[in-house]
Amino acid sequence: MNSVFPYMRNLRPGCRIVVLSGAGVSQESGLATFRDNNGLWEEHDVYEVATPEAWSRNPELVQRFYNARRKQLLEVFPNDAHKYLAKLEEVFEVVVVTQNVDDLHERGGSSNVVHLHGELRKSRSTLDESLVYDVDGWEITMEERCEKGSVLRPHVVWFGEMVPMIEEAASIVQSADLLLVVGTSLSVYPAAGLLHEASSDVPVILIDPGELNTSGLRNVHHIREKATVGVKNLVLKMLEYQKDS
Ligand code: OAD
Repeated sequence: MNSVFPYMRNLRPGCRIVVLSGAGVSQESGLATFRDNNGLWEEHDVYEVATPEAWSRNPELVQRFYNARRKQLLEVFPNDAHKYLAKLEEVFEVVVVTQNVDDLHERGGSSNVVHLHGELRKSRSTLDESLVYDVDGWEITMEERCEKGSVLRPHVVWFGEMVPMIEEAASIVQSADLLLVVGTSLSVYPAAGLLHEASSDVPVILIDPGELNTSGLRNVHHIREKATVGVKNLVLKMLEYQKDS
């Protein structure tokens, strides 16, 4: 952990920290990651439940699958990783760009969260994608309709769909003074490409117990810890360092 200090030398109160998070940050809250379970996501092949083709083929199955994810989300809680990331806001300007569709960053106290892959607790019209609604409880039924009369789908990005927030996320990363990457395998694009949007002199700290491909990145420090431990230790050090300097 001491070796992260050189990365903090230029950090001052008010500096902009951009957090890029993935499924690993929510793993210790009890939500499964995507690639740690023989390629299955909660016992399903992702192409069976998370593609536009899956929705065309069997919308009931897809709706049921996401209803179950939503139900599970309502039963879990933010962990120390979410909470300590929120604590960074005491000193820094923090933006969390997450690939996660859960709302655990918000419930952990983060006030500025951009969801790249959508939000599980929202539904969207299948006719007009600008019509987005909060889901009351865990279930979207096939009988519910948007105000234009069409079926509602989960407000998430499926494989093969555009990522509407990617440009906003890229400009957020470009403005970072420090990039903190937590719990993502960096294997899904365009999200993984965001790391290359940071200027080359910006420090990048990765917290993930797995092996990650960081080729092409300079100034990278990989903390091989689970999110709760790695984030907590790092954030406490960062806050302490600001007090002492
Ligand atoms: P992955 O499942 O690909 O990667 C999870 C990462 O979390 C891996 O690098 C693990 O080593 C790490 N990990 C596991 N447990 C951890 C823990 N307790 N603390 C910290 N890290 C841990 O998930 P993502 O990279 O988020 O997209 O996947 C990206 C996208 O692929 C998802 O947003 C989703 C998926 O398909 C869509 O649904 C469009």
